Amino acid sequence: MVRTSALVATTATLLANVHAAGLYGKNSAVLQISGVDYDRVIAKSNYTSIVEFYAPWCGHCQNLKPAYETAAKSLAGIAKVAAVNCDEEVNKPFCGQMGVQGFPTLKIVKPGKKLGKPVVEDYQGPRAAKGIVDAVKDKIPNNVKRVTDKNLDEWLQEKNETAKAILFSDKGATSATLRALAIDFAGLVSVAQVRNKETEAVKTFGVEKVPSLVLLPGGTKEAIKYDGDMKKESLVGFLSQVAPPNPDCPPPKAKKSKTQKDDAKESKASSKFSKASASHKTAEASSAAASAQSETVEEPLKPSESPDPIVDTEKPIVIPEEELKPTIPVLAESSELQASCLNDKSTTCILAILPKDEASEAATSALSSLASIHKKHDTGRSHLFPFVGVSAANPLASSLLAELNLGTADEVHLVAVNAKRGWYKKYTGQSFGAVAVEQWVDAIRMGEGKKEQLPDSLIQSEEKIEVEPEKVAEQEPIKIEVEEIKEDEELKEPETHHEHGEL
Ligand SMILES: *[C@@H]1O[C@H](CO)[C@@H](O)[C@H](O)[C@H]1NC(C)=O
Ligand SMILES: *[C@@H]1O[C@H](CO)[C@@H](O)[C@H](O)[C@H]1NC(C)=O
Repeated sequence: MVRTSALVATTATLLANVHAAGLYGKNSAVLQISGVDYDRVIAKSNYTSIVEFYAPWCGHCQNLKPAYETAAKSLAGIAKVAAVNCDEEVNKPFCGQMGVQGFPTLKIVKPGKKLGKPVVEDYQGPRAAKGIVDAVKDKIPNNVKRVTDKNLDEWLQEKNETAKAILFSDKGATSATLRALAIDFAGLVSVAQVRNKETEAVKTFGVEKVPSLVLLPGGTKEAIKYDGDMKKESLVGFLSQVAPPNPDCPPPKAKKSKTQKDDAKESKASSKFSKASASHKTAEASSAAASAQSETVEEPLKPSESPDPIVDTEKPIVIPEEELKPTIPVLAESSELQASCLNDKSTTCILAILPKDEASEAATSALSSLASIHKKHDTGRSHLFPFVGVSAANPLASSLLAELNLGTADEVHLVAVNAKRGWYKKYTGQSFGAVAVEQWVDAIRMGEGKKEQLPDSLIQSEEKIEVEPEKVAEQEPIKIEVEEIKEDEELKEPETHHEHGEL
């Protein structure tokens, strides 16, 4: 069956991509940080950052990965692109504290007026490299002075002993590269942009082409023209003749450092950025030991997967009042259940085996969770698996309870079955709330969870099922989409060329 093979292929790809430690490997352009690093590496940085909060099992997180890697390469040296694995025990309190309620959550962290008090905003845009890059660049503070013929002299007299750098450009907008350069040299070199239509300024500095960068080392020292390429790294190198750039974040406190392994990991994480931004050596050296400061410990959250904003802009599931009544089909006939989920051709189904009291809190909660999960995924695409309620009156309900060792008929039981492949997986959670149930459904979509053997006695051969056709048509089971991995839109141009153009 086409449906089955697509599901199996998808699952295999997903599992192959999942790194035991996290989604991003050690050679990734994405900075892997822990909750412990965040304060120093991100919150106390002069740089703007984007931080992804993810769980390795989450499908949308895996879908985002290629785009996020591309964004990280594109923003190298301009902004920090980081990721926190919220599945790791040590990070759970931090993820909760950051208000993470679904995966992936992307937050843009922009330096505030006071160091260490950044402005944090959720990124809600498209989960594609270009959208992410544009949104982050947009948030990079602009300390570049716009200078014209009229205020040139005045600007040159301001802090006359401090070095200045002037970019001559035919553009009005200030590129992210120049803004990042001004941040690297904040307090060391004042950076300005002058348009080439400012003829006096152009003449004063003998500028012949744009873009062109001129460095005034301070006071009346002679101006130095830059003749390298307009890449961030080269520009940093050129301005470094005045002074080394600021570190990209404060050095770690070398007090109670954790394990050696953590130290190494951490130092790599922050040195990667330093290298990318071509910051000077001390930033790297100072990152040698990890800070052992822990974040305030709060009740860890157990978030679910976030909806993809392109498909659905809802925040993690909120069940509206009117949806609290179940909207998945509840089957009372054995033949209906066999036709949908328990025949030798049927693939994965999610069954909610209901107690006699279908109005019980647990039953209502389980059914409405399944219904809301279904609704969220209902985009009408092709790879699907059904969600079905099994009424206590269904003769197969008691067989399922007994054969699968599910427990008593007084409770709700959720179970995933795949009769074609002969397995089942129990839901062992305590709560039937949407978040917990969705996590379980997601795990099944990814082929996770313990498989147990589905007894043959429960599987009907397809030809033998006798169903009145109208009845099945009325009770069409609800299906859920099984997503395929899509490559996200790639940025066409490498960042450096892009930036070159902007300058
Ligand atoms: C200092 O002022 C002099 C005179 O206006 C000017 O030529 C020089 O470029 C200024 N230097 C800096 C670094 O601003
Ligand atoms: C941030 O910028 C200030 C100047 O505004 C500078 O003194 C500092 O070294 C920079 N870096 C860090 C990590 O604060």
